[in-house]
Amino acid sequence: MAAPTTKKRILTGIRPTGALHLGHYVGALHNWIELQDQYDCYFLIADYQALGDHFHEIDLIRDSVLQVTLDWLSVGLDPEKSAFVVQSYVPEFAELTMLLGFITPLGMLERNPTLKGELEDLDVERRTVGFYNYPMSQVADILLPQAHLVPVGDDQLPHIEMTREVARKFNRMFGNIFPEPDSLVGKVPRLSGTDGLGKMSKSKGNVIMLSDDAKTVMKKVRSMFTDPNRIRADIPGKVEGNPVFQYHDAFNPNTAQVDDFKARYREGNIGDVEIKMALAESLNTFLDPIREKRAYYEQNMNLVEEAIMSGVSRMRKVAAETMTQVRDAMRISSYTKNWK
Ligand code: TRP
Repeated sequence: MAAPTTKKRILTGIRPTGALHLGHYVGALHNWIELQDQYDCYFLIADYQALGDHFHEIDLIRDSVLQVTLDWLSVGLDPEKSAFVVQSYVPEFAELTMLLGFITPLGMLERNPTLKGELEDLDVERRTVGFYNYPMSQVADILLPQAHLVPVGDDQLPHIEMTREVARKFNRMFGNIFPEPDSLVGKVPRLSGTDGLGKMSKSKGNVIMLSDDAKTVMKKVRSMFTDPNRIRADIPGKVEGNPVFQYHDAFNPNTAQVDDFKARYREGNIGDVEIKMALAESLNTFLDPIREKRAYYEQNMNLVEEAIMSGVSRMRKVAAETMTQVRDAMRISSYTKNWK
């Protein structure tokens, strides 16, 4: 059932370049699940954008569209409430990207700190026109459904700022069509990787996937980094910045136990193994219902397909409305109408 249109609209998205992990849950999904009731949500699987640095890995993108959809369904994003949208199923995203490109100064891309950093990390042959332009396409992602709010991580803020500037300029030039969207940055700090060396990222092999089975979780937790200076259980250890405690804080609902672990760790009165066993147990308790739902959907692929197709059809309707407004405002695609 479509959400009433009086609700404000949210668009946010993810690039399908792999299945999702605990970092995605803590940093994004957890928040999105809550937002579903208050807002009319569009959750985008940005497969065009994934081509940006994965154009040589089409199979990965294809598979990841499915994995991400399964992950979303498993954690409780609800296709009855929110629209799941695969970007390439709605070609208006590409059309709007192109049209907005004509009013967007190059400087906006040149100055974008997130883009700058990413370009520096890319080999020259991967620095494509499409990659360079991805913030523009993200602007179109947000403006096509005329979103009011965009929940994102703070690395995405330059793209939201660019969206506001482009919306303002379009509205000034062609008439008021686009709301200037606000960003909504989650309060939770990023979950670090199991190696404690920075954020979770699949390429670093320091992730726990939402789809990992119990044994895999146990194995990964057992090899997690703790305080590197604590070589024996009777040496006082550091809790701050220690990934094992960061995960306990995020996933162990038994705060009394966590407090006790922390106190004893600081005193040098507990072994890593005890703390890790309890962590693996908490994680598995958290992941069990997610695994169950995933298994259910894997056996009912028609539901997965329906989730996508109903979201896509909702998005197509909104996209058609926006593009009619945009083409009319720019007075294009209608030249022959009045030719007599
Ligand atoms: N760039 C975002 C990321 O890598 C994904 C994304 C694509 C997005 N389009 C979006 C996020 C629109 C917010 C709004 O995580």
